Amino acid sequence: MPTLRQIRLCWKPLAFTAALLPLLGLLAGAAGFGGARLGPNPVETIQDTSGLWALRLLLVTLCVTPLRWATGQAWPLQFRRMLGLFAFAYAALHFANYLLLDRALDAGEITGDLTRRPYIIIGFVALLLLAALAATSTAGWRRRLGQRWQALHQAIYPAGLLACWHFWWQVKKDHTAPLWYCVILLALLGLRAWRARWQPPPG
Ligand code: HEM
Repeated sequence: MPTLRQIRLCWKPLAFTAALLPLLGLLAGAAGFGGARLGPNPVETIQDTSGLWALRLLLVTLCVTPLRWATGQAWPLQFRRMLGLFAFAYAALHFANYLLLDRALDAGEITGDLTRRPYIIIGFVALLLLAALAATSTAGWRRRLGQRWQALHQAIYPAGLLACWHFWWQVKKDHTAPLWYCVILLALLGLRAWRARWQPPPG
């Protein structure tokens, strides 16, 4: 089992760097660094990469609790906040790219999308939930909210479901990729439901 000191000095910086790599890849592509490119449609590349990593990191965040159960150790919890914040950061980048580069801050188009295109509305609600979780993820908010903090942070479940639905809905033909994300999310949520039903916490 890693010690708290090893986690702080080695494993957390490593996880931080790993989570930063997709962003660094996008920046390298945008700058043409080392021959990297963002492809024929850079705006779409940024949109898809940031959306996928937001969802992947959200799922990785949801793996923390089952990993704690499987190991019987508390150390996985040390990574949870950082992973959740990265998920939110990629979702915020995804939204910023949509607003600034895709829609060029055209208020009419943005309002039209946010009121008439269901997959955008669903994505927006997921983003709002992630923003609320990120804003209240500090120790101060945890103290202030007490019991209600746990309940509030269960909003990551609907956020994950909405993000998967958003992914599913915007795919036109081959649904294999969103299907895999949905299966993983449902397995992670199913594990929690099973544990709550059959293994009530001790005490
Ligand atoms: C206001 C919030 C959001 C907006 C406006 C938005 C918008 C978009 C757009 C325009 C696309 C590309 C559709 C296309 O290629 O035709 C997309 C794809 C996607 N979005 Fe979002 N999104 C939002 C929130 C989110 C959130 C919160 C997540 C995940 C946590 C997410 C995950 C994805 C994924 C996984 C894709 C598919 C990427 C791919 O095709 O490879 N989105 N979104």
